[in-house]
Amino acid sequence: MTSNESGKEQKKKMEYKIRKTEASDVPEILRLVKELAKFEEMEDQVILTEKELLEDGFGDTPFYHCFVAEIQGENSSDDLKVVGFVMYYFTYDPWVGKQLYLEDFYVMEEYRGMGIGSELLRHLSDLAMKTRCTGMMFVVAENNEPSVQYYKRRGAEDLSQEEGWRLFRFDKDSLVKLGTPAEE
Ligand code: ACO
Repeated sequence: MTSNESGKEQKKKMEYKIRKTEASDVPEILRLVKELAKFEEMEDQVILTEKELLEDGFGDTPFYHCFVAEIQGENSSDDLKVVGFVMYYFTYDPWVGKQLYLEDFYVMEEYRGMGIGSELLRHLSDLAMKTRCTGMMFVVAENNEPSVQYYKRRGAEDLSQEEGWRLFRFDKDSLVKLGTPAEE
């Protein structure tokens, strides 16, 4: 057995658990959001704080939800460690109804390839079926080819390519202008 194979064996033996997040998970959610942004070379664009994440995800009207993957340390007395997450919310398509939107999907590098990502997606699939969603939308950076292929292998369609949709945004300044009455 090569050292690589024995490494894979070790990975497979590690047990993990997927669960919905609670307010006390906010620091770990922000850590993973930042790690993913760093992976995408856009870490400096994360301006959100724990306070906002707490208010927005765990207030009266949650604007997002997460599942996290946790791993038990080597000893049973070790704390559980959060090693991956999905952030999602519900959207609505006036043609077909409820949809899930996958906002963030990340597993720490040393825990990849153990099936954690697939299990997180399975939880989203179960949720989509339970809530009668008709699909799950998401955006992937064009240069993130491993992820593009990861999603395609699981049956995702590339709508930019197949249907020609383009992604748009009004930033805050443009929104303010939109709300300002035109001078006569
Ligand atoms: N280690 C192991 N497997 C890898 C690695 C790696 N470094 N990189 C890619 N893979 C491939 C494997 O070949 C395997 O492919 P297959 O199952 O499709 O044949 C697959 O990834 C591993 O599958 P899982 O174990 O189920 O997934 P994993 O736990 O590794 O998580 C994820 C997948 C979340 C995409 C992870 O690779 C990751 O965090 N990547 C970096 C961040 C990223 O690109 N996130 C998606 C951005 S798009 C968005 O958020 C909507």
